[in-house]
Amino acid sequence: MADLDLVIQGGTVVTAEGARRCDVGIREGKIAALGDALPRAARTVDASSKLVLPGGIDAHCHIAQTSSAGIDTADDFETGTRSAACGGTTTIVPFAAQHRGQSLRDVVAAYHERARGKALVDYAFHLIVSDPSPSVLEEDLPALVAQGCTSLKVYMTYDSLRLDDGQLLEVLAAARRLGAMVMVHAENHDLIVWQTRQLLSAGCSSPRFHALAHSAAAENEATHRAVALAEAAEVPLLVVHVSSPDAAEHIRRARVRGVRIHGETCPQYLFLTADDMDRPGFEGAKFMCSPPPRDIEAQDGLWSRLQDGTLEVFSSDHAPYRYDDTRGKKLFGENASFDKIPNGVPGIELRMPLLFSAGVHEDRITIEQFVALTATNPARLYGLFPRKGVIAIGSDADLAIWDPEREVEITQSILHDNMDYTPYEGLRVHGWPIVAISRGDIVCDEDGVHAAPGRGSFLPRSPA
Ligand code: URP
Ligand code: ZN
Ligand code: ZN
Repeated sequence: MADLDLVIQGGTVVTAEGARRCDVGIREGKIAALGDALPRAARTVDASSKLVLPGGIDAHCHIAQTSSAGIDTADDFETGTRSAACGGTTTIVPFAAQHRGQSLRDVVAAYHERARGKALVDYAFHLIVSDPSPSVLEEDLPALVAQGCTSLKVYMTYDSLRLDDGQLLEVLAAARRLGAMVMVHAENHDLIVWQTRQLLSAGCSSPRFHALAHSAAAENEATHRAVALAEAAEVPLLVVHVSSPDAAEHIRRARVRGVRIHGETCPQYLFLTADDMDRPGFEGAKFMCSPPPRDIEAQDGLWSRLQDGTLEVFSSDHAPYRYDDTRGKKLFGENASFDKIPNGVPGIELRMPLLFSAGVHEDRITIEQFVALTATNPARLYGLFPRKGVIAIGSDADLAIWDPEREVEITQSILHDNMDYTPYEGLRVHGWPIVAISRGDIVCDEDGVHAAPGRGSFLPRSPA
C-alpha cells in the first residue's frame, strides 16, 4: 500500500449512520483507509477525545451576490469560504443570481469569474431563476445542468425576482425534464405588499414591523401552494428557510402522502425571535431577514421537525450586509422604513457550532442527526454524494475535527467573515470545530488559516 499523506489519529469518527473510534488515512486528497493502527504517514493529527465529522456543506449562502438593489453581499469567495472553513464547513453552495433580462448562462459565467482565484474550499452554484423565458428554460437550463449546476431557486415574493404560479409550473416542468432540484422561497407576495402598506400608512416603519409584514400566514399560504404545484407537476421540491411550524407541517403532510417535498431551516429561526428586531433605533435591522425569525413557540416547533426528519437540511442562508455601511443595512439611511432595508443575516461560520451546542450538547438531536442535517443530507439532495458529506473510503477527505467540550462566547472579533456584527453576539456555545480539512489539506486549525485563496475548486454536480 502506498504511503498515506495524513492520518487523523484516535478520534471518534461520525457519519449519519453511526459513530466509532478509528483512524482516518488520507492519500491524494481522498479517504484511503479507516481503521486502527494505520501505517505511518507523512503527517499525523491527534484527534483523541475529539470528534471527526464530515466537513459541513452549507447549501444555502449568498456569496459575492449582487442584490436587486445593486449592492453586493459583504463576503466574497475568499472571506466567505474562510469563514465557512473556520466554522467546520468545507463545501459551500451559493447562488448565481439572474436578474430579469439576463441570460442565465452569462450569469453563471460571471459568477465563475467572481469565484476564480478566491475560494479556500470547494464550491458549487445553485441558479436563481427570475426570468423563465423560453430560451432560459429550453436552452440555458439544459446547458447549465449538463455543466453541473443541478439545482435552482425560485422566489414567490420580491418584485424583482418573483414568479407567478404559471411561471413556477413552467420551471417545475423543466426541472422534472432535467432532473434538477427546485428550491423555493415561499411567501405570499400580495399579502406582504398589503400588510406593508397597512403598516406604513399607520406610521409603523421601524425594523420590528418587518416581522408583521412578513407574517407566518404569508409563509404558510405560499408553502402550501408551492407544495401543491410541485405535487401536481410530479417533481421534487425543497422549501428553503422554513421559519414557522405551520409551513413545516405542509412538508410533513406531503411526505406522509409519499410526495418528495424537502425542507430546510436555518440558525436564525432557532436562535432569534421577532423581539430581536425590536431594539432601540435602527439596531433591529441587524436581525432582519425573510422570512423573519418568529417566537419561542415557533423555535420549539422547528426543533420537533428537525428531530422527526421533516426538515432535512440545516443551512445558514448567510446573506451578509454590514450594519454600519451605506452599501449594507444603511443603504437608505438609518431612518429607512423596514421595506427598504436589505434583508439577510450572516451565519456561515456559526451555523454548525450553534446547532452542535443547542442540538447535540443539549440533547435535542443526536450527533448522527447533526451530521445528516449539516453535511450528508445536503450532499444527497444536491448531487454531491458520496464525493462529499460522508467519511468513507474513496470520498474526498473533507473533514472537521471538533472539540465537543470547548466553550466559546460568540463575539464578532473571533469570526472570519467580512462583517461588522453577528446577530449571535454574547451567546455561549459548547462544542467548537478546531481543524478543517479539505481534500486532505489542513485549511485551518488552532494556529490559524493555512489555505491560500484559489485552492478551492468548482464542483460540478450530478442530478440528485
Ligand atoms: O433575507 C434573506 N434570507 N435574504 C437572502 C435572500 C433569500 O431570500 O434567501
Ligand atoms: Zn430566500
Ligand atoms: Zn437565501
